[in-house]
Amino acid sequence: MTPDTEARARRLDADDPGHRDLFHVPPASGGGYPDVAYLAGNSLGLQPRATRPELMEELDAWAQLGVEGHLEAARPWLPYHQLLTEPTARLVGALPAETVVMNSLTVNLHLLMVSFYRPSGRRNRIVIEDTAFPSDSYAVRSQAAFHGLDPDTTVVRLSPRPGEDTLRTEDVLSYLDADGDTVALVLLGGVNYLTGELMDIPAITAAGRAAGATVGWDLAHAAGNVPLALHEWDVDFAAWCSYKYLNSGPGALAGVFIHERHLGEPLPRFEGWWSTDPAIRFQMAPVARPLPAADAWQISNPPIFSMAPVRTSLEIFDKVGMAALRARSLRLTGYLEELLDEVTPARPLAVVTPRDPARRGCQLSLRIGRGSAVELASRLRHEHGVIVDAREPDIVRLASVPLYSTYHDCWRAAVALAELVRP
Ligand SMILES: Cc1ncc(COP(=O)(O)O)c(C=O)c1O
Repeated sequence: MTPDTEARARRLDADDPGHRDLFHVPPASGGGYPDVAYLAGNSLGLQPRATRPELMEELDAWAQLGVEGHLEAARPWLPYHQLLTEPTARLVGALPAETVVMNSLTVNLHLLMVSFYRPSGRRNRIVIEDTAFPSDSYAVRSQAAFHGLDPDTTVVRLSPRPGEDTLRTEDVLSYLDADGDTVALVLLGGVNYLTGELMDIPAITAAGRAAGATVGWDLAHAAGNVPLALHEWDVDFAAWCSYKYLNSGPGALAGVFIHERHLGEPLPRFEGWWSTDPAIRFQMAPVARPLPAADAWQISNPPIFSMAPVRTSLEIFDKVGMAALRARSLRLTGYLEELLDEVTPARPLAVVTPRDPARRGCQLSLRIGRGSAVELASRLRHEHGVIVDAREPDIVRLASVPLYSTYHDCWRAAVALAELVRP
């Protein structure tokens, strides 16, 4: 890594600047640059500059209006969640009626499984990936147990082939082909949290549905990272969080997609006063009358101070557009990959993310063959001002987020890795 390549990174940034100016980039506590090279947006996205003023507007409305803010705030709180519906639908390729923002991700997965995991006789299995995020694994196991089933036999964990790091689509398809009649629900991560692999969502959805199963997706690492067309792909349901690529803050509210064909169905569902038709909500009737919309899965009145950051963030996605973001993402991650290919061959480091850009988003995961991933991430931060994240025992994840990451961030990460991990 010569100074020449730093100059190249700077040139690439000048030619392909992204939207870093819209975000607060944390100051560095180590290394030779004032700001961190932030490559952890797959874990927690950076704060948009617009978030604080918008949140302050809502706090001011509360101070000035009290309860009247429900109707009189500049963005009235009563119908506030509807402000998020259309931008969310645009983000994931859905009809507005198919999306709602509410709760957190695992809670939403549970609420969706109340409706969409309906084991019956031999068709009772839930298929996940062996490297599913632990919360999903715990959620599906507890759902199986809730139905009186044995989680160890009900939950099927699909693994990569021996010696491989990522799951092959054809292996998922052949499982569904052979055993699909025992599967009630397929619930996979759209982009795997550990390896960064982008699954073939349309192909797996089609195969699962053809086998008679319901197909849901955890899109925590896909929403805002890769273009999605959930309606067109015929996905049954999906859920995602907003604190990663959607930059809406720690523990931010999550999104839900339910395909139009299910909206009017008499499905089992947990309901509350926010499930009912808003036109009759204050008639205080004892029986809910939900509209045929994902809104019917809402239960409680929404937390406005948590919704405001989601609204601000979605405005950025609307302004920039997923197509432009994906185009920059391909360039930026391609550049990071190129630098890592200079660094890794001589060192105990290997990229485990698929090499085909069509099979990944902006995250590249590295397996380290020596030492601790957590310790490496800590040294990257304290000695070089490079923030990545580590997953025990041996994975370091680097996400070059197209909204705010720079080519120079990628260069800094590669130089730091070259220095800290000796050949
Ligand atoms: C893929 C995936 N699923 C589920 C979760 C859990 O999310 P939450 O704590 O919002 O329920 C995460 C959190 O990082 C995740 O990455």
